[in-house]
Amino acid sequence: MEKDSLTVVDNRTSQKYELPISHGTVRTRELRNIKVSEDDFGLMGYDPGYMNTASCKSRITYLDGEKGILRYRGYPIEQLTGSKSFTDVAYLLFFGELPDEKQSREWDQLIRSNYQVPEEIGRLIEVFPEHAHPMGMMAAATSALSSLYDDSRDVADPENRRRQAVRLIAQIPVMAAMVYRRISGLPAIPPDENYSYSKNFLQMMFDGSIVADPNNPLLEQVMDALFTLHGDHEQNCSTTTVRGVGSANTDPFLAVASAIAALSGPLHGGANESVLKMLHEIGTPDRIPERIIQAKKGEARLMGFGHRVYKNYDPRARIIKELAHRIFASIGTSKYLDIALELERITLSDDYFISRKLYPNVDFYSGLIYEALGFPSNFFTVLFVIGRIPGWVSQWEEMVLDQEQKIARPRQIYLGHEYREVED
Ligand code: CMC
Repeated sequence: MEKDSLTVVDNRTSQKYELPISHGTVRTRELRNIKVSEDDFGLMGYDPGYMNTASCKSRITYLDGEKGILRYRGYPIEQLTGSKSFTDVAYLLFFGELPDEKQSREWDQLIRSNYQVPEEIGRLIEVFPEHAHPMGMMAAATSALSSLYDDSRDVADPENRRRQAVRLIAQIPVMAAMVYRRISGLPAIPPDENYSYSKNFLQMMFDGSIVADPNNPLLEQVMDALFTLHGDHEQNCSTTTVRGVGSANTDPFLAVASAIAALSGPLHGGANESVLKMLHEIGTPDRIPERIIQAKKGEARLMGFGHRVYKNYDPRARIIKELAHRIFASIGTSKYLDIALELERITLSDDYFISRKLYPNVDFYSGLIYEALGFPSNFFTVLFVIGRIPGWVSQWEEMVLDQEQKIARPRQIYLGHEYREVED
């Protein structure tokens, strides 16, 4: 008879145990019943890097890494990108449904009316030197909002949670533009409620002054699309951080500031910056084979390739590649696009990359677009932050509402000294 359970035999004791299976998982808590004696702590799971551990149940993002599928609340990202504004996608992620026309207008207005950040943020950002890395500045400014918005700590009140989520969505791009102006030695430009989300961001960044003309509608569309593609990605390193920090009932600004710190790492969101650095180092297509040999020897990874869950082409990379072609057709091509295309072409036919299922990921082509638009490379991960905010706040909200969640507190296998005494 078929049964949704797993039978295990403990060969130490010859005892047989039956563990229920639900949603294709067994609860590792059940392993604790497997003991060799009454005072035995019981078995635990050991899973460094959470390679095979589900930490939550979620209804936000569906990802099938084998098939290259990514859906927000059931909608494929291919259908959302370009057809829905980023603020509508943020609404979808947070509330679970796409807004109707009236809801979309009101939501958009609500976000615009929250663009204004507390004036202390401007002073805080000014404290940093021009050579400061923007990700640290973003983490600091986001943490500061926790102290400046006194009401942020009341995480039990749903209305209050929504208020903070809106502030985060509305104010992160504003702070990002202020950070950019600071590291560029330029005066800050105030936000303007008359402008849409992406337009306001571009206006605050560039004020029509450099490569990216904020009045070019293609740029606004491309920013909206790029933000959408970064909207959420289920339980990655930074999202796990938001949930973990938030599980202590920490306010959302501090939880998101921790996620920004996690995202800054070069193996996570920081990869887009590293991709561009790598393309610059390669310099000319004839030097690609040399770089590939290095990667195969394990001397230097090909940045923008590989993913913990995508073992097929990253669907975001496919769309971003198309966007890159559109942008370069509009504002002139880049030699680095040619290097990237050639690098991809070679890897797709190289057994090392094929056998390890290493394909371009979201960060591979995004950096090229950002560079073409005039964003400095150390700012790329900040753009990832802006896109990921709706995902982080939605995951945080879901975690707060989940009755099964508890404060994050993994176990360890202790391998240190059992007991020692300090010698006189
Ligand atoms: N270049 C060359 N070899 C690679 C690469 C790469 N980019 N990525 C993985 N490998 C090899 C790795 O050396 C290993 O080979 P072997 O089996 O011979 O030891 C095998 O592939 C499996 O690698 P892994 O480190 O076990 O894979 P992982 O799932 O732990 O790591 C990853 C995933 C994204 C950290 C990794 O692929 C990587 O470092 N990529 C480059 C950085 C990057 O582009 N990161 C952005 C990820 S997408 C956006 C985001 O998450 O923020």
